[in-house]
Amino acid sequence: MVEKLSNGEGIVKLIVCTMQRHAPNPNSCGNSGGHDIADALERHLADNCLPVPLERVACLGKCPTGPLQGSQGTVVQLYPTGKSWRGITREDVPGIIASIQRHHAKNQ
Ligand code: FES
Repeated sequence: MVEKLSNGEGIVKLIVCTMQRHAPNPNSCGNSGGHDIADALERHLADNCLPVPLERVACLGKCPTGPLQGSQGTVVQLYPTGKSWRGITREDVPGIIASIQRHHAKNQ
């Protein structure tokens, strides 16, 4: 069982869009590295001993301002804070982990 990082306003889980659309409009987070980014986030969470579960979902409803506009990368959201990022690539993963660590330190 995964321990909650914090309660109340704290982070409960990290949600990563891995939706894969097909022709005629294949623009989607899953086709922009969604699974690779989810894998990288899971590794970084484990390496930093952050007890945050990660859930892969099919679409976070951010497509009109993200992948459907042709932006690269995926959408990541912290639940239940509502904080989300669009166009996340592997290079952004350390920054998300740092944000979670800051949030964790503030809510302890
Ligand atoms: S396909 Fe990722 S937010 Fe919709």
